[in-house]
Amino acid sequence: MDNHNNLQARIQDALAAKRNLGEMSDADSVGTAGSADCGDMLRMWLKFREDEHGRRVIDRATFQTFGCETAIAVASVATELLAGKTAQEAMDLSGEELAAPLGALPPMKIHCAQLVEGALRNALEAGASVQLKKTDSLSTAIAVSELNASAGASPASPTLLENLRSGLNSSGKVKVVLKSSLQ
Ligand code: FES
Repeated sequence: MDNHNNLQARIQDALAAKRNLGEMSDADSVGTAGSADCGDMLRMWLKFREDEHGRRVIDRATFQTFGCETAIAVASVATELLAGKTAQEAMDLSGEELAAPLGALPPMKIHCAQLVEGALRNALEAGASVQLKKTDSLSTAIAVSELNASAGASPASPTLLENLRSGLNSSGKVKVVLKSSLQ
């Protein structure tokens, strides 16, 4: 079996056993990214906890996407990878590292992993802003585009579909791919 077929097989395996798909109602932060290459979008939710060493680590990560099969597969394996990582450790992960369980992606699919990386970074930045907001009186200057104001609150941000219909959609570049697997 060649590399292409190996990759396809791993993607199909990941799709058949998707992990962490869906909104997280008690998330601490949420981030969204859109791909300039294909117009697809992906949203990621993060929930943190304190580990046995007192570090604030990711407890759970979930995602939702209007994206291709590769993006879904990468998000599925990436959200598994993130559990137990600090925000900095997660921030240091490249799209390639997030997709590593699937193997090397071909050049035309690298942006699919970057979509996952972008949503993760957006969520981490939103989470960092929340942390700062709690401790820094000057934090009003911080722009928090997408976050939960507090744990337990449902995300106040628009749904992924609303995002597609509004701002990004007005660019005329967004391609909406409704995946039956997400319904
Ligand atoms: Fe758009 Fe893969 S083709 S994310």
